[in-house]
Amino acid sequence: MKIAIGADHGGYRLKDELVPLMQSLGHEVVDVGCSCDQSVDYPDYALPVCDLVAQGKADRGILVCGTGIGMSIAANKIPGIRCALVHDTFSAKATREHNDTNVLALGERVIGPGLAQDIVRIWLETPFSHTDRHVGRVNKIKEIESKYASHP
Ligand code: RB5
Repeated sequence: MKIAIGADHGGYRLKDELVPLMQSLGHEVVDVGCSCDQSVDYPDYALPVCDLVAQGKADRGILVCGTGIGMSIAANKIPGIRCALVHDTFSAKATREHNDTNVLALGERVIGPGLAQDIVRIWLETPFSHTDRHVGRVNKIKEIESKYASHP
């Protein structure tokens, strides 16, 4: 798959550790930055990653900030994005099977690199369940998105 990844200054170290992992799993990685400790604003990195996913130019996106919270809030404002903030392997699997999430948010200040790598591996390899109930619920999310898109 083609994976877009981005981080702010609170998450770039973990991002830089996840890039070689994904490449070793055979994925193509597009890294939109950032790459240093200089303070930046997480929405500026959530947007290019989510743009690539929403436009179909990347299959999935991964966002890392200090907590993962700001990135996940910003990502979920973008039509077509279903982003989950995940810090455990059970949720990594469940959010793919149940929610068909296309963006994963992680907090570098919350979990260590070993757990983050397990989460990413599981999240990338788990398919959506495609059962009627989960398809129906995701479609309801899409209906909410459409409804509010027409109410500026
Ligand atoms: C940056 O200090 C921090 O606020 C950011 O990385 C993130 O945790 C925000 O949600």
